[in-house]
Amino acid sequence: MHDDVQKILIDEAAIQRRIAELGAELNAAYDDEDVPIFVCVLKGAFLFLADLVRHLRFRHEIDFMVVSSYGDATRSSGIVRILLDLERSIEGRHVVVVEDIVDTGYTIDYILRNLASRHPASLRIATLLNKPSRRKVEVPLDFVGFEVPDEFVIGYGLDYAQQYRNLPYIGVLKPSCYSDEP
Ligand code: IMP
Repeated sequence: MHDDVQKILIDEAAIQRRIAELGAELNAAYDDEDVPIFVCVLKGAFLFLADLVRHLRFRHEIDFMVVSSYGDATRSSGIVRILLDLERSIEGRHVVVVEDIVDTGYTIDYILRNLASRHPASLRIATLLNKPSRRKVEVPLDFVGFEVPDEFVIGYGLDYAQQYRNLPYIGVLKPSCYSDEP
């Protein structure tokens, strides 16, 4: 375990087992005719997308979006900005948004409303983690990996101050590792 990690919430094997199950759920939901587009919300979802698509048995495409939500290092403000948009149109296409974590819900709610205005054939959400205790806006989650308690988590794509994304597990940072910097 990394020195800065207080405890591991979800270990590597459990993550990989659950992602295989989510892959099976997606294989049951889509087929070759659908050719859905998987929209990876960067940066946090990059490992989840990479592992998830390797379980898919139907034709699909992937695209990327970079969004930033203003706020301090651990709390989202609800103001979301698109820093990098999709390369291709999603009009008339089946879309699956791939997220790392849904916390207050502000970010995914903004993304959903933005993508819905582009008239996709369908729009669903796959999120690795769900933190329902902190929800501020109701969002429909279609594919969920794990529910996590109200703790700030890091690893498997999720960061604190842009670090720890490489950890193969989901963990909780030691309190002494939080900086007081804004
Ligand atoms: P929301 O808008 O509050 O739902 O959170 C959106 C974004 O904040 C997520 O996509 C993450 O990038 C980040 N975030 C929320 N909770 C955590 C956490 O516990 N660890 C790391 N990042 C988080």
